[in-house]
Amino acid sequence: MRRSFTLVDVLLVLAFFSDAQWAVNGSSHCKQTNSGIVRPHSVTITEFGAVGDGVTLNTKAFQNAIFYLNSFADKGGAKLFVPAGRWLTGSFDLVSHLTLWLDKDAVILGSTNSNDWPVVDPLPSYGRGRELPGGRHRSLIFGRNLTDIIITGDNGTIDGQGSIWWDWFRNGTLDYTRPHLVELMNSTGVVISNLTFLNSPFWTIHPVYCSHVRVKNVTILAPLDSPNTDGIDPDSSDNVSIEDCYISTGDDLIAIKSGWDEYGISYARPCTNVVIRGLIGQTQLGAGIAIGSEMSGGVSEVHAENLQFFNSVMAINIKTSPGRGGYVRNIYFSNVTLDHVDIAIRFTGQFGEHPDGFFDPKALPKIERITFKDFAGEYIKVAGLLEGIEGGNFLNICLSDITLNVMSESPWNCSYVQGYSHLVTPEPCEPLREKIFPEHYVDCYHISNQFWHSNFHSRGARLLSW
Ligand SMILES: *[C@@H]1O[C@H](CO)[C@@H](O)[C@H](O)[C@H]1NC(C)=O
Ligand SMILES: *[C@@H]1O[C@H](CO)[C@@H](O)[C@H](O)[C@H]1NC(C)=O
Ligand SMILES: *[C@@H]1O[C@H](CO)[C@@H](O)[C@H](O)[C@H]1NC(C)=O
Ligand SMILES: *[C@@H]1O[C@H](CO)[C@@H](O)[C@H](O)[C@H]1NC(C)=O
Ligand SMILES: *[C@@H]1O[C@H](CO)[C@@H](O)[C@H](O)[C@H]1NC(C)=O
Ligand SMILES: *[C@@H]1O[C@H](CO)[C@@H](O)[C@H](O)[C@H]1NC(C)=O
Ligand SMILES: *[C@@H]1O[C@H](CO)[C@@H](O)[C@H](O)[C@H]1NC(C)=O
Ligand SMILES: *[C@@H]1O[C@H](CO)[C@@H](O)[C@H](O)[C@H]1NC(C)=O
Ligand SMILES: *[C@@H]1O[C@H](CO)[C@@H](O)[C@H](O)[C@H]1NC(C)=O
Ligand SMILES: *[C@@H]1O[C@H](CO)[C@@H](O)[C@H](O)[C@H]1NC(C)=O
Repeated sequence: MRRSFTLVDVLLVLAFFSDAQWAVNGSSHCKQTNSGIVRPHSVTITEFGAVGDGVTLNTKAFQNAIFYLNSFADKGGAKLFVPAGRWLTGSFDLVSHLTLWLDKDAVILGSTNSNDWPVVDPLPSYGRGRELPGGRHRSLIFGRNLTDIIITGDNGTIDGQGSIWWDWFRNGTLDYTRPHLVELMNSTGVVISNLTFLNSPFWTIHPVYCSHVRVKNVTILAPLDSPNTDGIDPDSSDNVSIEDCYISTGDDLIAIKSGWDEYGISYARPCTNVVIRGLIGQTQLGAGIAIGSEMSGGVSEVHAENLQFFNSVMAINIKTSPGRGGYVRNIYFSNVTLDHVDIAIRFTGQFGEHPDGFFDPKALPKIERITFKDFAGEYIKVAGLLEGIEGGNFLNICLSDITLNVMSESPWNCSYVQGYSHLVTPEPCEPLREKIFPEHYVDCYHISNQFWHSNFHSRGARLLSW
């Protein structure tokens, strides 16, 4: 349910349109380019009456500015410039061919009144809100059915002021699922870069049903005990890259998802072709990179490298449950450095949490061809706690070149998994002890698949330069 414009809004926009001074220097900020895209038109949020005092609610100013800029969508697009200041706002939505540019010391602040975050329909692949039945609050910055969206700047900040939502969540007074800070839905060509994201009410950046998403050089922070403040959750999206990010939050730093039980199975939109490169961070509740637990539409072709996690519960966690169905396959983690991480590698086969009673407990997920290569860690409690699901569908798990300084007496604990290993210290659990011979290369994703490797990198390069 999209917010509709009132007659007053339209008249306001028309009034700005006829403002000569405004029209003359409409392109004054076009020299600030990012991601190689130059927008021929630009406006500043103050031209739409916004006040950056941290108190005035600027939702209408954002909506009016963006509504006006929509008229440039077929003329190369436009830029909305947010200067230094504290710009309080409720949820607003973006249009295609738009750059939202936050200057140094510009802070977009989420309203602490839940009415400023309207309730919208649940996602079809979830069937209901993730936390509560029914709809969900719309994200602070929202976009749907768009192409070519850039959210960037000079380390400006988008602050969800989520602590009030965390209180409402903890004391059980919410009627609907908490909002994300940024959500793009069914959109193509999304860049989010060079910014800081603070204190999201719920997951921070949520691209869902999107293609060609690039997140680069962002900092995402929330208190380590804040509930469900995931960093970046690519969900039923393809061609996603996440590079050079620092994330420290209360839950998974990155969680790759694709819908929930019977709703995700029937929506059937996988998350595929995801590259993560250069991630540093910590989480005291979640994992550095998680896959799931919602993965019912399938997750495949994930390549994550150059990762550093410290003071965290888990580095990698693949989480699922009977009832999810779907698959997680062709996943490759490499060059991972850990310091003070409780569990380096975790599979959770009995995660639980179902949308309702209609899931099919016989819908078992398939987890296959998952490779972990070049891991080094100090102060690790458990190297691997790998719990599969009875029925034998966690297959071809490959460990290679792993050296972890483990403090526990039983460093590996595996059930219902099958796989291979090569140069792993401490020695892995029995089901993963089989050596990786050339005939297993096909099973050990990426280990010797140089053809796939170069192919993937050239595709990766293409997606980064779209
Ligand atoms: C637009 O140009 C006018 C006259 O040159 C100037 O006074 C005004 O500050 C400019 N506005 C912006 C937003 O640059
Ligand atoms: C980030 O900012 C740097 C420095 O201004 C710029 O060179 C780069 O293109 C920006 N990156 C993106 C992806 O916006
Ligand atoms: C997604 O967006 C495209 C283009 O804007 C539109 O044609 C399509 O109907 C949308 N699909 C959904 C499911 O929203
Ligand atoms: C997006 O596309 C879907 C499917 O065509 C349509 O139902 C919905 O109204 C569109 N939403 C917006 C905001 O354009
Ligand atoms: C990262 O973003 C900051 C601003 O947030 C910018 O100063 C810096 O140049 C960017 N780095 C790269 C490599 O783009
Ligand atoms: C951007 O701002 C955040 C928060 O203030 C800070 O931690 C980070 O170091 C800054 N990044 C750059 C590149 O200046
Ligand atoms: C729940 O938390 C909110 C925000 O802190 C507070 O205003 C409200 O009184 C609390 N309600 C209950 C029932 O504790
Ligand atoms: C990803 O990008 C490639 C190259 O642009 C394209 O061929 C492909 O259809 C996209 N989507 C998926 C699901 O791979
Ligand atoms: C491994 O990752 C680190 C950053 O975590 C990076 O500095 C180093 O160059 C990477 N090594 C290789 C071989 O790519
Ligand atoms: C292995 O993990 C299971 C389930 O988490 C636990 O019950 C069991 O005690 C563990 N075994 C060892 C030897 O640590």
